[in-house]
Amino acid sequence: MTDVLEGLLDEAGAQLDDVVALRRRIHLHPELGLDLPETQAAVLDALEGLPLTVHTGSATTSVVAVLDGDEPGPTVLLRGDMDALPMPEDTGLDFASTVDGAMHACGHDAHTAMLAGSAAVLAARRRDLRGRVVFMFQPGEEGQGGAKVMLDEGLLETASKGAEPVSMAFAIHQTPTIPSGMVASKGQALLASADEFEIVVRGKGGHASMPHHAGDPIPIAAEIVLALQSMVTRRVDVFDPAVVTVAKMRAGTTTNVIPETALLAGTVRTVSASARDRVLADVERVASGIAAAHGASAEVMVVRGYPVTVNHDRAAQFALDTAGTILGEDHAIEMPSPVMGGEDWSYVLEQVNGAMAFLGTRPGGVAPHDVAPNHSNRMVLDEAAMAPGVALYAAVALRWMAEAPAG
Ligand code: NI
Repeated sequence: MTDVLEGLLDEAGAQLDDVVALRRRIHLHPELGLDLPETQAAVLDALEGLPLTVHTGSATTSVVAVLDGDEPGPTVLLRGDMDALPMPEDTGLDFASTVDGAMHACGHDAHTAMLAGSAAVLAARRRDLRGRVVFMFQPGEEGQGGAKVMLDEGLLETASKGAEPVSMAFAIHQTPTIPSGMVASKGQALLASADEFEIVVRGKGGHASMPHHAGDPIPIAAEIVLALQSMVTRRVDVFDPAVVTVAKMRAGTTTNVIPETALLAGTVRTVSASARDRVLADVERVASGIAAAHGASAEVMVVRGYPVTVNHDRAAQFALDTAGTILGEDHAIEMPSPVMGGEDWSYVLEQVNGAMAFLGTRPGGVAPHDVAPNHSNRMVLDEAAMAPGVALYAAVALRWMAEAPAG
């Protein structure tokens, strides 16, 4: 039953000018973290006049907008994140960031604009809707766990108040590494867990010429760096992979002093909860074991970040089938493997059925190896791809509601 999708791509296309304008307005004034007052105001302006019940967060500047169809039915949650990154922008765009040290380099401005566009498209079809669509505009994706903040603030209760519980949750993430207008996803793990560690190796300071009177932490730290890589290849199942990267080393002040401590810090990425627990425990054991072998100590601090983003199989397949229906079969790609980035959408998928899909936004004429990817200071996206993005948000909701058994 895909009749409900007829004409949808055109309806989304008719929103493109507004979507581009909203995206550029947000791009000009990127905001960081959980407090995004200007971005929230832009969203509220865009939703003005639509038949929505709008809730704003108090722990964060979120917006939750509820659209009720004329008939009761399933509740679908659609999400767009709103925050930018603390980095300079070097794109040279007319609408480049006007805020020093902040840039929408992950395309969350586009997510927010597409979600608002889909609200307009779905609101225009309100009379035919059988169920509820909840639009989740979320701050704080880049490390602050805004999705978790919204869940803790009662997102799912708000979403289902006076209606059915959420039975489908769907999010889009744009990426210029995929050709414009293509959609990619997969069942099971889509993105990795993202944890951080810091290791302080504590030895004994002294004169660099007489290391036997000291306890030099630097060779111990070096040994730990290498041993962590051996640990990954020898202790981790290649079919349940992990990445351990020591991204920072710091020790010492000058050439004739052995410092007391050396610091290592980095990230652990896995695509299963069990591998995550094992690898984090191994990092701790390897570091303290090697330090102890040299008569020193290692203090290991782990900061758990986002869990693995696990797409529900049926929901991911549903999103891909829907993308294939509205955009053409060759525009929906089933990914062979996860991506090792992290997402706080993972917290939502821990609680409700749903999925995330990637939307390709590679600008025309840019070769794959020349692409400035997400988080690059030169990242640019093809704004025309936002029309298929708007259509996909709306299509997932419409088709989910149409195919649910009448209750
Ligand atoms: Ni992102």
